[in-house]
Amino acid sequence: MGFPKLVILIPLFCWMESVYGIGANWGTQSSHPLPPATVVKLLIDNGIGKVKLFDADYGTLRALGKSGIEVMVGIPNDMLANLGSSMKAADKWVSKNVSDHINNNVNIRYVAVGNEPFLSTYNGTFLKTTYPALANIQAALIKAGLATKVKVTVPQNADVYESPSGVPSSGDFRADIHDYMIQITKFLNDNGSPFTVNIYPFISLYLNPNFPVEYAFFDGNATPVNDGGTTYTNMFDANYDTLVWALQKNGFTNMGIIVGEIGWPSDGDRNANNQYAQRFLQGFMTHIAGNKGTPMRTSPVDAYLFSLIDEDDKSIQPGNFERHWGVFYYDGQPKYSLNLGTTNSGALIPATDVKYLQRKWCVMKDSARLDDPSIAQSVSYACALGDCTSLGYGTSCGDLDARGNVSYAFNSYYQKNDQADEACRFPNVSMVTKEDPSTKTCRFEIMIEPYFGGAGRLIGAIRSLVAGLVLVLVL
Ligand SMILES: *[C@@H]1O[C@H](CO)[C@@H](O)[C@H](O)[C@H]1NC(C)=O
Ligand SMILES: *[C@@H]1O[C@H](CO)[C@@H](O)[C@H](O)[C@H]1NC(C)=O
Ligand SMILES: *[C@@H]1O[C@H](CO)[C@@H](O)[C@H](O)[C@H]1NC(C)=O
Ligand SMILES: *[C@@H]1O[C@H](CO)[C@@H](O)[C@H](O)[C@H]1NC(C)=O
Repeated sequence: MGFPKLVILIPLFCWMESVYGIGANWGTQSSHPLPPATVVKLLIDNGIGKVKLFDADYGTLRALGKSGIEVMVGIPNDMLANLGSSMKAADKWVSKNVSDHINNNVNIRYVAVGNEPFLSTYNGTFLKTTYPALANIQAALIKAGLATKVKVTVPQNADVYESPSGVPSSGDFRADIHDYMIQITKFLNDNGSPFTVNIYPFISLYLNPNFPVEYAFFDGNATPVNDGGTTYTNMFDANYDTLVWALQKNGFTNMGIIVGEIGWPSDGDRNANNQYAQRFLQGFMTHIAGNKGTPMRTSPVDAYLFSLIDEDDKSIQPGNFERHWGVFYYDGQPKYSLNLGTTNSGALIPATDVKYLQRKWCVMKDSARLDDPSIAQSVSYACALGDCTSLGYGTSCGDLDARGNVSYAFNSYYQKNDQADEACRFPNVSMVTKEDPSTKTCRFEIMIEPYFGGAGRLIGAIRSLVAGLVLVLVL
């Protein structure tokens, strides 16, 4: 039985493998992050050889030591002003957050200076501080003798360029930030650093109800966009090539490009579900696996999936889908089948040794009535501090009835507070149950054990106690 399988699997494996290998973004805006060592093992087991971070968390980088995984460390936007105005601060940042870890065998290859600092919704807040920070960090890397091994870059949202006529060949940097983009891009180019861009067909679909759905995917079903004889049937290629044109137009013909983030959320919106996420990501992996690049740039695509694991503390200001970008759920379990071309089975490998809390849930009491005046207040409190982004039209728990909704909210708050007894005392209307309230599509989660670095369970116990007290005081 084994022999025919091998014959089939090995050629598939070779065909899927990209020259760069796929990377993943590892964000940590979670109430209950998995221990860093568990995440590093998850990366290794899944053959993900590159990781992009949003900061330079000590525990995370310690765990990556000796793993061989290529690392992009990040500088949050709120640190740009200080690093740009003080060379001493930049030297210190590089010393603590790069040099020390490289000495500890962490394979740091990039420093991401800021995260989408020119995003239009930031109203220009970081326009003047990004370049000075970039220049200081590069100078600090040179001083530390690391500038050959470690490259600086600035992950930008694809909104830094635009195409007035809609086709890639009319692409150029956004008019209001054109000079800033040239300054940064020239600096990166002069230092042999890549341009990093985040591309999101999902967001285009989310923001524009008339966006042609098929154009977001890779199945070739969309009405082609004709750009002077070159045809595009997926938004990724067209968007990437708009950047290639923008770079060329401004004299940067051979600059490396990294796709810093690409992905599809699985919940929180009618177009965010496991089926679409699987279709998009598998389509993307297959699309780049042939190493053919895009029509304008026929070299392999270098990309980082967004994201590795769901983050339940992310701001939902952009939309409820924000907490559902993971290829894996909060507990490191795969959401769908996805062949990254990096595992022998062609399947995602789940996180191992995950420690869950007890099998119990907080739900609405059978005897409680929906018209109890305290219900609305309790639900809004639970949703504000818990996570109700899987409730609502077209989401995984969108089919729950009104009582189910209330239970979902209570349970989310209860689990987020480590199942503290006090966190299931919504006056007269809640109770703890050992019967799983989950439905076919809607998971009532059981939280994982909190991880506090070396600090142990004590902080967890204190936090639960505080949560309980706050609940009692507010209601
Ligand atoms: C190193 O990075 C961490 C995490 O981003 C940050 O809190 C810290 O201030 C940085 N260290 C220095 C010396 O700048
Ligand atoms: C940007 O400006 C808009 C409109 O003036 C405002 O609503 C928003 O809060 C601002 N955002 C930031 C990050 O300053
Ligand atoms: C459940 O909650 C969601 C989100 O708040 C709401 O859109 C929906 O109408 C509720 N369903 C019922 C049956 O109350
Ligand atoms: C809870 O129920 C008891 C008995 O039915 C009632 O006396 C009390 O006022 C209720 N408390 C709240 C906060 O609704």
